[in-house]
Amino acid sequence: MKPIGIFDSGIGGLTVAKAIANRLPHVPLIYFGDTAHLPYGEKSPELIQYYASRISHHLRDQGCRIMVVACNSVSSNALHAVQDALGPKIPAIDVIAPVIQEAIKRFPGGRIGVIGTRATIESGHYQELLKGHGCEVTAMATPLLASAIEEGFHEGSVSDALLEAYLGGGTFDEVDALILGCTHYPLITSQIRAFLPDHVAVIDSSIVVANSVAEALSEMDEEKSGKANQRFIVSDLTPSFSMGAQRFFGSEVHLEESPLWDF
Ligand code: DGL
Repeated sequence: MKPIGIFDSGIGGLTVAKAIANRLPHVPLIYFGDTAHLPYGEKSPELIQYYASRISHHLRDQGCRIMVVACNSVSSNALHAVQDALGPKIPAIDVIAPVIQEAIKRFPGGRIGVIGTRATIESGHYQELLKGHGCEVTAMATPLLASAIEEGFHEGSVSDALLEAYLGGGTFDEVDALILGCTHYPLITSQIRAFLPDHVAVIDSSIVVANSVAEALSEMDEEKSGKANQRFIVSDLTPSFSMGAQRFFGSEVHLEESPLWDF
């Protein structure tokens, strides 16, 4: 069975990979984290498009039959570059479209908040899609959160101080739902909830995206077999990425290094 390709700027997309592995344990997957170039959230759209295109070619050449863009910064700035690189036969599933569907189904015409990297929020992609569905949107870039979480500063005083700085002013107190527009944020979902009034729903993309992948595969009429092979590749392997990967995936992960980039 051909694998699902999944990629992110680094190891944050492992939250999405985990949800997919739980939902579809019989489907092989190849994960690629571009640890040599993160954070994408601080890069220009042009550079994100270049990286995303190179990675998509690489995963296509590994035989992937569907591509999951497990990064909001890529999904909002470079989805067309991914699809161009893959060609018409390999569908790309991004982390934004399924979440927008979920938000408008649960809160039609509602007041929706979104937080994410600078690249994601400045692209205006979430805002445009949500407004196009009649929602009122409040968006905020929360650029320090992803690096703090990646450093292991989650569920503690450092992430609490950052959340106080970003959310403490009450910007999202009146929304119906807050979308976590970065694949790193599921690690601090409960902390984020603590900074919001009880009526605000928090929408995390990982499970919603895993359901979309399952749907796309059932349309491809895939046969099911036992537990499948999973490969986890990064473009720069360090001990801290190895440790971080266990945290994001929630169980042991063996990272391999790929010589995809020439330095
Ligand atoms: N995981 C990336 C995202 O969802 C953010 C990390 C980065 O800035 O590279 O946008």
